[in-house]
Amino acid sequence: MATEEKVIVIDFGGQYNQLVARRVRECNVYCEIYSYRTPIDQIKAMNPKGIILTGGPNSCYEDGAPTYTKELFELGIPVLGLCYGAQLMMHVLGGKVEKAPVREYGKTETFIDGSKDTLFAGIEEKTIVWMSHFDYISKVAPGFDIIAHTADCPVAAAACEDKKLYAIQFHPEVLHTVKGKEILHNFVRNICETAGSWRMDSFVENTIKEIREKVGDGKVLLALSGGVDSSVLAALLARAIGKQLTCVFVDHGLLRKNEGDEVESVFGPNGNFDINFIRVNAAQRYYDKLKGVEEPERKRKIIGEEFIRVFEEEAKKIGTVDFLAQGTIYPDVVESGLGGESVVIKSHHNVGGLPDYVDFKEIIEPLRSLFKDEVRKAGLELGLPEYLVFRQPFPGPGLGIRIIGEVTAEKVRIVQDADFIYREELANAGLEKLPDQYFAALSNMRSVGVMGDERTYDYAVVLRAVETVDFMTAEASEIPFAVLQKVMSRIINEVKGVNRVMYDLTSKPPGTVELE
Ligand code: XMP
Repeated sequence: MATEEKVIVIDFGGQYNQLVARRVRECNVYCEIYSYRTPIDQIKAMNPKGIILTGGPNSCYEDGAPTYTKELFELGIPVLGLCYGAQLMMHVLGGKVEKAPVREYGKTETFIDGSKDTLFAGIEEKTIVWMSHFDYISKVAPGFDIIAHTADCPVAAAACEDKKLYAIQFHPEVLHTVKGKEILHNFVRNICETAGSWRMDSFVENTIKEIREKVGDGKVLLALSGGVDSSVLAALLARAIGKQLTCVFVDHGLLRKNEGDEVESVFGPNGNFDINFIRVNAAQRYYDKLKGVEEPERKRKIIGEEFIRVFEEEAKKIGTVDFLAQGTIYPDVVESGLGGESVVIKSHHNVGGLPDYVDFKEIIEPLRSLFKDEVRKAGLELGLPEYLVFRQPFPGPGLGIRIIGEVTAEKVRIVQDADFIYREELANAGLEKLPDQYFAALSNMRSVGVMGDERTYDYAVVLRAVETVDFMTAEASEIPFAVLQKVMSRIINEVKGVNRVMYDLTSKPPGTVELE
């Protein structure tokens, strides 16, 4: 990655910081996020082709507000300031920023007044942008021209073409800005004069080379879960070092129907790769540990701890390995507070943490610089099947948290079969890619029914399907009623032990996506 041309995003705490970086990469230019606290010398040493300053929640004229040294604008490197970044650029360079008489929020009609051959090349005179600000630029800095305005905002954008400095009040990274991608493309590719060579095929090729150099003839161990990240990592390592890689796949008996066999068919002895693959069928161990346990957090804890025990046992059999590979990806790094300015949302056990239960010398994290969609592209490049690469999210504790109350082998069988039918029928209806996540869960409720002439007293299955952008909030999907009816009738007819099917309408908040 060291030789790759790059654009740097300096993060002022804006909520769209990762999105800005992703949009840059969509222009085929590599991009990294750094906090505004990063010293200028460090930024200079990276020799970026361009710099983007993000939005942020502060007012740049207040004491203690995040700022950056003026020198940044004197490096001869193109700089694009977005929202707070734009205001800061004006503030630092001698313009004026004040509280706006009217707060602008939402889709806003904007008139383009300049930079029609550079930043706004190919953009119509009137365009819709996404605004979200309470401060505004009341006077541009010396040497800048106003290049866009709105009804309420005299400076929607300003430019100093000679120095390639651009300040825009709106958010081009958000899809509501109709020509946002084009504007970013103009900056990243044309103004920064980048070649645009960041592509997944070259990433895969270069990373394979890097892994070979780093690993030499050493041994690498990977815990393979069958999820997207660890599967892509396994494929990448397999291509790079073949038999020097050992993948341990712990089947905890809480996977979806056939999932264990699917993972084995790709990575096992008859699969696509020449590696050491160990499948541990630990279902009974997990069921024994979970016997009588009803409390959701306790279940999560037991499942997590048991994974460590099983993995540890397998690792001991293998003996000392040189490297432990982990499927850390870029959002994990940023959300752990290591890149950018975002608060620590969750500390990922796998970022920088060294598990002390495996005997190894070093951690390698070859996917550390990739966003999820890029991991998927790399997976396709590596020849992984689409069903693996486009898998919907599946929680680590698996069906353990989709079975309300005590987990038993019988309940696992019920929820696996019901979930399988649900997925099959959504696929038959051509809807399998519509909800962002969908699954069947097993409520702990049993109720009376009739089947034939018999009275039944069986379980109720809950169907869930949600639309969400970031899984922090979610809405129930509008699955057509006829499809739900078909799923209901198949589950009741084909899955023994179920006499009732319900559809969960709850949004998040107040609910969560998973039932436990
Ligand atoms: P919730 O239920 O918190 O789910 O609204 C949001 C997303 O996170 C997944 N999820 C988990 N993933 N371990 C995981 O690895 C967990 O314990 C866990 N709980 C929820 C869930 O599937 C959804 O995508």
